[in-house]
Amino acid sequence: MADSSSRAGERYASPEILDYVNRVHAGHDGALAQAFAVPEGIPAIQVGPSEGRLLYLLMRLANARKVVEVGTLVGYSAIHMARALPPQGHLWSVEFEPKHAEVARKNIATAGLADRITVHLGAGRDVLPGLDKHGPFDAVFIDADKENYDHYGAWALAHLRPGGLVIGDNAYLFGELTGDGPRPRAMRAFHELVAKTCDSVCIPTPDGLVVGIKNP
Ligand SMILES: C[S@@+](CC[C@H](N)C(=O)[O-])C[C@H]1O[C@@H](n2cnc3c(N)ncnc32)[C@H](O)[C@@H]1O
Repeated sequence: MADSSSRAGERYASPEILDYVNRVHAGHDGALAQAFAVPEGIPAIQVGPSEGRLLYLLMRLANARKVVEVGTLVGYSAIHMARALPPQGHLWSVEFEPKHAEVARKNIATAGLADRITVHLGAGRDVLPGLDKHGPFDAVFIDADKENYDHYGAWALAHLRPGGLVIGDNAYLFGELTGDGPRPRAMRAFHELVAKTCDSVCIPTPDGLVVGIKNP
Protein backbone atom coordinates (compact mmCIF):
# COMPACT_ATOMS: atom_id res chain seq x y z
CA MET A 1 0.00 0.00 0.00
CA ALA A 2 1.32 3.43 -0.90
CA ASP A 3 1.65 5.62 2.17
CA SER A 4 3.15 9.05 1.81
CA SER A 5 3.39 9.47 5.57
CA SER A 6 6.91 9.47 7.02
CA ARG A 7 5.31 8.03 10.15
CA ALA A 8 4.31 4.70 8.64
CA GLY A 9 6.66 2.77 10.95
CA GLU A 10 5.38 4.65 13.98
CA ARG A 11 1.78 3.82 13.05
CA TYR A 12 2.14 0.13 12.35
CA ALA A 13 5.04 -1.20 14.43
CA SER A 14 3.65 -2.10 17.85
CA PRO A 15 6.03 -3.49 20.52
CA GLU A 16 4.53 -6.95 19.86
CA ILE A 17 5.23 -6.67 16.13
CA LEU A 18 8.79 -5.48 16.72
CA ASP A 19 9.37 -8.31 19.17
CA TYR A 20 8.02 -10.81 16.63
CA VAL A 21 10.13 -9.61 13.69
CA ASN A 22 13.24 -9.39 15.86
CA ARG A 23 12.72 -12.99 16.95
CA VAL A 24 12.01 -14.27 13.44
CA HIS A 25 14.74 -12.40 11.54
CA ALA A 26 17.29 -11.34 14.12
CA GLY A 27 17.31 -13.93 16.89
CA HIS A 28 20.24 -14.07 19.29
CA ASP A 29 22.56 -17.01 19.80
CA GLY A 30 24.55 -17.24 23.04
CA ALA A 31 27.31 -14.82 22.04
CA LEU A 32 24.95 -12.13 20.76
CA ALA A 33 22.74 -12.53 23.86
CA GLN A 34 25.81 -12.02 26.07
CA ALA A 35 26.90 -8.90 24.16
CA PHE A 36 23.34 -7.50 24.15
CA ALA A 37 23.02 -7.90 27.94
CA VAL A 38 25.08 -4.85 28.87
CA PRO A 39 26.31 -5.14 32.49
CA GLU A 40 25.13 -2.76 35.20
CA GLY A 41 27.10 0.45 35.24
CA ILE A 42 27.38 0.57 31.43
CA PRO A 43 24.58 2.26 29.47
CA ALA A 44 22.50 -0.05 27.24
CA ILE A 45 22.87 2.14 24.14
CA GLN A 46 23.73 -0.54 21.59
CA VAL A 47 21.90 -0.84 18.27
CA GLY A 48 18.70 -2.91 18.31
CA PRO A 49 18.62 -6.53 17.13
CA SER A 50 17.22 -5.63 13.69
CA GLU A 51 19.80 -2.88 13.18
CA GLY A 52 22.54 -5.28 14.20
CA ARG A 53 21.22 -7.76 11.68
CA LEU A 54 21.03 -5.01 9.05
CA LEU A 55 24.69 -4.18 9.68
CA TYR A 56 25.54 -7.85 9.13
CA LEU A 57 23.58 -7.92 5.86
CA LEU A 58 25.15 -4.66 4.66
CA MET A 59 28.63 -6.10 5.29
CA ARG A 60 27.70 -9.17 3.28
CA LEU A 61 26.23 -7.14 0.43
CA ALA A 62 29.38 -5.02 0.27
CA ASN A 63 31.63 -8.12 0.38
CA ALA A 64 33.31 -6.33 3.25
CA ARG A 65 36.77 -7.48 4.26
CA LYS A 66 38.11 -4.46 6.14
CA VAL A 67 35.79 -2.51 8.44
CA VAL A 68 36.20 0.31 10.98
CA GLU A 69 33.75 1.05 13.79
CA VAL A 70 33.82 4.14 16.01
CA GLY A 71 32.01 3.35 19.29
CA THR A 72 32.35 -0.29 20.41
CA LEU A 73 30.39 -0.20 23.69
CA VAL A 74 30.53 -3.92 24.63
CA GLY A 75 30.87 -5.33 21.13
CA TYR A 76 27.29 -6.11 20.05
CA SER A 77 27.38 -4.36 16.65
CA ALA A 78 31.02 -5.38 16.14
CA ILE A 79 30.10 -9.06 16.53
CA HIS A 80 27.27 -8.71 14.01
CA MET A 81 29.54 -7.07 11.43
CA ALA A 82 32.56 -9.30 11.98
CA ARG A 83 30.44 -12.40 11.42
CA ALA A 84 29.96 -11.26 7.83
CA LEU A 85 33.70 -11.02 7.15
CA PRO A 86 35.74 -13.73 5.45
CA PRO A 87 38.40 -15.49 7.57
CA GLN A 88 41.10 -13.06 6.44
CA GLY A 89 38.88 -10.03 7.08
CA HIS A 90 39.28 -7.61 9.99
CA LEU A 91 37.29 -5.09 11.98
CA TRP A 92 39.01 -2.32 13.90
CA SER A 93 36.73 -0.84 16.57
CA VAL A 94 37.49 2.27 18.62
CA GLU A 95 36.21 2.76 22.18
CA PHE A 96 36.92 5.62 24.59
CA GLU A 97 35.84 4.02 27.90
CA PRO A 98 38.27 1.42 29.32
CA LYS A 99 35.48 -0.54 31.08
CA HIS A 100 33.47 -0.78 27.85
CA ALA A 101 36.53 -1.97 25.92
CA GLU A 102 37.33 -4.57 28.57
CA VAL A 103 33.81 -6.07 28.48
CA ALA A 104 33.80 -5.87 24.66
CA ARG A 105 37.01 -7.90 24.43
CA LYS A 106 35.47 -10.61 26.64
CA ASN A 107 32.28 -10.72 24.57
CA ILE A 108 34.28 -10.83 21.34
CA ALA A 109 36.34 -13.74 22.69
CA THR A 110 33.11 -15.57 23.64
CA ALA A 111 31.94 -15.08 20.04
CA GLY A 112 35.19 -16.66 18.80
CA LEU A 113 36.13 -13.45 16.98
CA ALA A 114 39.20 -12.35 18.94
CA ASP A 115 41.40 -12.77 15.86
CA ARG A 116 38.99 -10.85 13.62
CA ILE A 117 38.22 -7.78 15.79
CA THR A 118 40.72 -5.41 17.37
CA VAL A 119 39.35 -3.04 20.01
CA HIS A 120 41.45 0.13 20.20
CA LEU A 121 41.16 2.13 23.41
CA GLY A 122 41.06 5.90 22.94
CA ALA A 123 39.15 8.78 21.41
CA GLY A 124 38.14 8.32 17.79
CA ARG A 125 39.91 11.50 16.69
CA ASP A 126 43.18 10.25 18.21
CA VAL A 127 42.95 6.60 17.16
CA LEU A 128 41.66 6.85 13.57
CA PRO A 129 44.86 8.33 12.06
CA GLY A 130 46.72 5.21 13.26
CA LEU A 131 44.32 3.04 11.25
CA ASP A 132 44.99 4.85 7.94
CA LYS A 133 47.65 2.29 7.03
CA HIS A 134 45.08 -0.55 6.99
CA GLY A 135 42.87 1.15 4.40
CA PRO A 136 41.23 1.54 2.02
CA PHE A 137 38.25 0.13 3.93
CA ASP A 138 35.06 -1.51 2.71
CA ALA A 139 32.85 -0.01 5.42
CA VAL A 140 32.99 2.48 8.29
CA PHE A 141 30.28 2.43 10.99
CA ILE A 142 30.04 5.57 13.14
CA ASP A 143 28.26 5.21 16.49
CA ALA A 144 30.11 7.35 19.03
CA ASP A 145 30.29 10.99 20.22
CA LYS A 146 27.85 12.97 18.08
CA GLU A 147 29.80 16.24 18.04
CA ASN A 148 32.50 14.53 15.97
CA TYR A 149 30.31 12.88 13.32
CA ASP A 150 31.43 15.43 10.73
CA HIS A 151 35.05 14.60 11.48
CA TYR A 152 34.44 10.83 11.47
CA GLY A 153 32.46 11.13 8.23
CA ALA A 154 35.28 13.03 6.52
CA TRP A 155 37.81 10.44 7.73
CA ALA A 156 35.59 7.62 6.48
CA LEU A 157 35.16 9.13 3.03
CA ALA A 158 38.90 9.73 2.74
CA HIS A 159 39.66 6.09 3.58
CA LEU A 160 36.82 4.11 2.00
CA ARG A 161 37.25 2.43 -1.36
CA PRO A 162 34.88 3.63 -4.08
CA GLY A 163 31.70 1.58 -3.51
CA GLY A 164 32.49 1.30 0.20
CA LEU A 165 29.84 2.00 2.84
CA VAL A 166 29.66 4.81 5.35
CA ILE A 167 27.03 4.17 8.03
CA GLY A 168 26.04 6.48 10.88
CA ASP A 169 23.65 5.67 13.74
CA ASN A 170 21.56 8.17 15.75
CA ALA A 171 21.22 10.27 12.63
CA TYR A 172 18.06 11.97 13.98
CA LEU A 173 20.17 12.94 17.01
CA PHE A 174 17.48 11.89 19.49
CA GLY A 175 15.09 14.36 17.86
CA GLU A 176 17.54 17.27 17.92
CA LEU A 177 18.89 17.07 14.37
CA THR A 178 17.39 20.34 13.21
CA GLY A 179 18.22 22.23 16.43
CA ASP A 180 21.06 24.59 17.34
CA GLY A 181 24.45 23.85 18.85
CA PRO A 182 27.58 21.90 18.01
CA ARG A 183 25.99 18.44 18.02
CA PRO A 184 23.15 19.22 15.57
CA ARG A 185 25.58 21.20 13.39
CA ALA A 186 28.08 18.31 13.30
CA MET A 187 25.33 15.77 12.56
CA ARG A 188 23.87 17.90 9.76
CA ALA A 189 27.37 18.36 8.30
CA PHE A 190 27.72 14.56 8.36
CA HIS A 191 24.39 14.09 6.54
CA GLU A 192 25.29 16.69 3.93
CA LEU A 193 28.79 15.33 3.36
CA VAL A 194 27.46 11.81 2.86
CA ALA A 195 24.69 13.03 0.54
CA LYS A 196 27.24 14.99 -1.55
CA THR A 197 29.80 12.20 -1.92
CA CYS A 198 27.65 9.05 -1.92
CA ASP A 199 24.42 7.50 -3.09
CA SER A 200 22.75 7.70 0.30
CA VAL A 201 19.64 7.37 2.43
CA CYS A 202 18.67 7.94 6.05
CA ILE A 203 16.76 4.77 7.01
CA PRO A 204 13.91 5.54 9.45
CA THR A 205 15.08 3.30 12.27
CA PRO A 206 14.06 4.56 15.75
CA ASP A 207 16.85 7.19 15.70
CA GLY A 208 17.77 7.21 11.98
CA LEU A 209 20.57 5.30 10.27
CA VAL A 210 22.50 6.97 7.45
CA VAL A 211 23.83 4.60 4.79
CA GLY A 212 25.96 5.88 1.91
CA ILE A 213 27.78 4.10 -0.91
CA LYS A 214 30.88 6.13 -1.78
CA ASN A 215 30.82 7.38 -5.35
CA PRO A 216 33.93 6.81 -7.51
C1 LIG B 1 26.14 4.03 21.19
S1 LIG B 1 27.52 3.33 21.94
C2 LIG B 1 28.10 2.20 20.71
C3 LIG B 1 27.20 1.02 20.55
C4 LIG B 1 27.77 -0.09 19.69
N1 LIG B 1 28.14 0.41 18.39
C5 LIG B 1 26.74 -1.19 19.52
O1 LIG B 1 25.75 -0.94 18.82
O2 LIG B 1 26.91 -2.27 20.10
C6 LIG B 1 28.69 4.62 21.85
C7 LIG B 1 30.05 4.28 22.41
O3 LIG B 1 30.96 5.28 21.96
C8 LIG B 1 31.89 5.50 23.00
N2 LIG B 1 32.52 6.82 22.79
C9 LIG B 1 32.10 8.04 23.24
N3 LIG B 1 32.94 8.99 22.82
C10 LIG B 1 33.89 8.39 22.10
C11 LIG B 1 35.04 8.84 21.40
N4 LIG B 1 35.38 10.14 21.37
N5 LIG B 1 35.80 7.94 20.76
C12 LIG B 1 35.47 6.62 20.76
N6 LIG B 1 34.39 6.12 21.41
C13 LIG B 1 33.62 7.00 22.07
C14 LIG B 1 31.06 5.41 24.26
O4 LIG B 1 31.89 5.17 25.38
C15 LIG B 1 30.14 4.25 23.93
O5 LIG B 1 30.67 3.04 24.38
